[in-house]
Amino acid sequence: MKIVFATGNKGKLREASEILGEGFELVTPAEIGITEDIPETGNTLRANSLQKAQYLFDKCGCDCFADDTGLEVDSLGGAPGVYTARYAGEGKDFNANMDKVLYELKVLESEVHTAAAMGLKMKKVSRRARFKSVITLIINGEKHFFEGTLEGTIAYEKSGNGGFGYDPIFIADEYPGQTLADITEEQKNEISHRGKALRAMAQWLKTNA
Ligand code: IMP
Repeated sequence: MKIVFATGNKGKLREASEILGEGFELVTPAEIGITEDIPETGNTLRANSLQKAQYLFDKCGCDCFADDTGLEVDSLGGAPGVYTARYAGEGKDFNANMDKVLYELKVLESEVHTAAAMGLKMKKVSRRARFKSVITLIINGEKHFFEGTLEGTIAYEKSGNGGFGYDPIFIADEYPGQTLADITEEQKNEISHRGKALRAMAQWLKTNA
């Protein structure tokens, strides 16, 4: 099946091709002449995912899907969340985004240490976090949503060369002691937020399309 994937992110495209396998031919917006940045101005992952898919559909009228992904860190009140792509500011790279998360957790931890040194009791800072992906599929003009979550913790420092984005600081519960950038792409795809959401979409297409 030929379908347009609303992304310019090479990491997402590589993973989606692997996860969906041979039955799918993924086409990028650039390949059909859509080269501008697709807007994502919503307040939720679902709104952004829908906005990206709808933008593409309005331009090409073709079957398409979009993925919006966010990292939620409990101690940071769910941040970066919907701001995951631009947490350190517009135009900053992934290292800056990861550094900001690591720095903010360190600040919270040092506050707890200071309080402890003063004899105050404070709860240990939780490093619990999760990736969430929301996929919007538009097929025959109808919209369908699929979601996937990966639970884990934020590492104390970056590790690994694989994956993309925030992978070097995320330790999935399934692979303790290793970040998503330390494990193989196959291992990541098997457990990941995107893997779960895309497999749900593929299953739906198999039975309904
Ligand atoms: P968006 O879904 O394109 O808005 O991406 C949100 C941000 O999350 C981007 O900065 C991505 O690089 C990052 N991101 C998306 N998926 C993953 C992932 O699987 N691992 C690590 N970072 C990711």
